[in-house]
Amino acid sequence: MRGPKAIINLDHLKSNFSIIQKFLNGKRIMAVVKANGYGHGSVPCSLALENHGCDFFGVFSIEEGIELRNAGIKSDILVFSALDPFRLNEAVKNNLILNISDISHIAPLIDFHKETNTIPRIHIKVDTGMTRLGFSIDSFNDLIELLIKHSEIKCEGIYSHFATADEGDFSYAVDQEEKFKRILDLTQKLDYPIKNIHFSNSGATLNIEQDYCNITRVGMLLYGALPSNELEKILPVKPVLNFKAPIVSIRSVPKNTFVSYGCAYKTTSKTNIVVVQCGFADGFPRSWFEDGYICYNGNKYNIAGRICMDQFMVDFGNVIPKIDDNVLMIGKDGSDEIRFETIASALKTTPYVLATAIGGRTQRIYKG
Ligand SMILES: Cc1ncc(COP(=O)(O)O)c(C=O)c1O
Repeated sequence: MRGPKAIINLDHLKSNFSIIQKFLNGKRIMAVVKANGYGHGSVPCSLALENHGCDFFGVFSIEEGIELRNAGIKSDILVFSALDPFRLNEAVKNNLILNISDISHIAPLIDFHKETNTIPRIHIKVDTGMTRLGFSIDSFNDLIELLIKHSEIKCEGIYSHFATADEGDFSYAVDQEEKFKRILDLTQKLDYPIKNIHFSNSGATLNIEQDYCNITRVGMLLYGALPSNELEKILPVKPVLNFKAPIVSIRSVPKNTFVSYGCAYKTTSKTNIVVVQCGFADGFPRSWFEDGYICYNGNKYNIAGRICMDQFMVDFGNVIPKIDDNVLMIGKDGSDEIRFETIASALKTTPYVLATAIGGRTQRIYKG
């Protein structure tokens, strides 16, 4: 099929998992596969990882969790979104772990248990500085007292989320850790032991050592990209995804020819302008043209003018490529390499935004 392709190398995904697990001395990893596995396809990625020994997955929505169960994933699955009291039945039916992040989540659980004599598995989410979801340290005493009273709610995990763990300055992350440790101390003091403790994301995996946690949540690093360029350590993870698209037209144009919308590009000599069939509707960032380039047969060629919705143009100079050959837009293929991190830093965005945008008409092809 002509059009953009995301070629996903599951061997790289598995080897990244092993590299990270070794770095963490065998600690249990929760593979974060929300948002369709950061654009890599949550089902194939989860199946490959489960086969490779991963036994915990993090998703955002109940639907994402059910999708994994329907695909045959047997491992634990934690749902990150705020508890929806109307979906408790589906959580139980599909053995999904929900989180509680507000005192208002307790009553529906108690009522549900009264009605059905079942209850979803629960992790407690605490807010230590992200100011998103989670119990604050001030409300924690009341929460634990309530949970002790309602022993039908069995909290098997507790977690928080870093706001700045991938940044060079650790001070805010250290502050978050202190709050989290105070909360963990409270669980001890109130005699409410919780088995599973997790805090890290990819940035913290590399930047912050956490001996008080027995699970690490890892997303971006598994897919072979670094969350930011401010990390203390790096690991030799390999990009999992190659984003490619075919050349569909080649034309020779004279010097001073304008290319694409807004005439933002003007040729500086007689050259070959090539049309590639992929656009911002497929997730190729519209603004990646000022310094943007693609790779073809070991060489880089500048993107000529704004990326259009379905196509973009490339200045090939005096090279005449082959129609239907693919250019590499993101990823690594032999000596051709354009990392998510490179584009993210040029566009002042993040690999997360770029990876999760890949879609539209993109065909996902799995290797390994
Ligand atoms: C709650 C939670 N944990 C873990 C992660 C994984 O983060 P990363 O991809 O940086 O590893 C995310 C991602 O945003 C998240 O929302």
